[in-house]
Amino acid sequence: MSVLIAPSLLSADFSALGEAISAVERGGADLIHVDVMDGHFVPNITIGPPVVRSIKRVTKVPLDVHLMITDPDRYIEAFAEAGAAMMSVHVEVLPHLHRTVHAIQDLGVKAGVVINPSTPVVLLESIAPDVDYVLVMSVNPGFGGQSFIPRSESKVRDVRALLDRVSNPAPVEIDGGIDIRNVGRVVSAGARMIVAGSAIFHTSDPERATRELKSAALAAVSSPAVR
Ligand code: DX5
Ligand code: ZN
Repeated sequence: MSVLIAPSLLSADFSALGEAISAVERGGADLIHVDVMDGHFVPNITIGPPVVRSIKRVTKVPLDVHLMITDPDRYIEAFAEAGAAMMSVHVEVLPHLHRTVHAIQDLGVKAGVVINPSTPVVLLESIAPDVDYVLVMSVNPGFGGQSFIPRSESKVRDVRALLDRVSNPAPVEIDGGIDIRNVGRVVSAGARMIVAGSAIFHTSDPERATRELKSAALAAVSSPAVR
């Protein structure tokens, strides 16, 4: 893996998700990022397993399902059955994170753990050897189109260092406020899965926006650190 681009459907036109998915797949999307919100953990409400099942039918690349819900344990099986290839859960809501991560993996789904901007990296220390990826939120979750929180760049670096320390090659994903201007910096910091919503779907040409974001991300992998 070099860098994977994961367009977030949250900023797409929900009446035409199939077309949105085809466009970004033509542009080179490696994953489709699906944001699930319950109106409790975050103020917004989005979609559940039936919609994920429909999306799965028209998607060629793996579905990366980001659960922003207070009780993910109740729903992981339903999202796995609906077609999630990857599922991430927030450390902030899970007192038994180890059990949840393994429950996701037992369903044949890659398990990711997410930290909010105010959540310290140290909370990942004991779970780091078990995860398939770590998602660093670079905005407070709930809405698309927010500004990137600059401190997230060093957080990506710290998470990468933690995973390296426990010899886990799991990639770091970043989500929130990513665009063509800052993608190079987060890739240089160690991010290898890039979520982008508004930078792709709030443009006149999501296919081209995906392609451009991907080439900017790939350029940063092969060039020395951009600071
Ligand atoms: C925010 C979601 C993100 C969102 C990102 O809570 O988790 O995936 O869609 O949107 P942008 O890229 O517009 O910040
Ligand atoms: Zn997300």
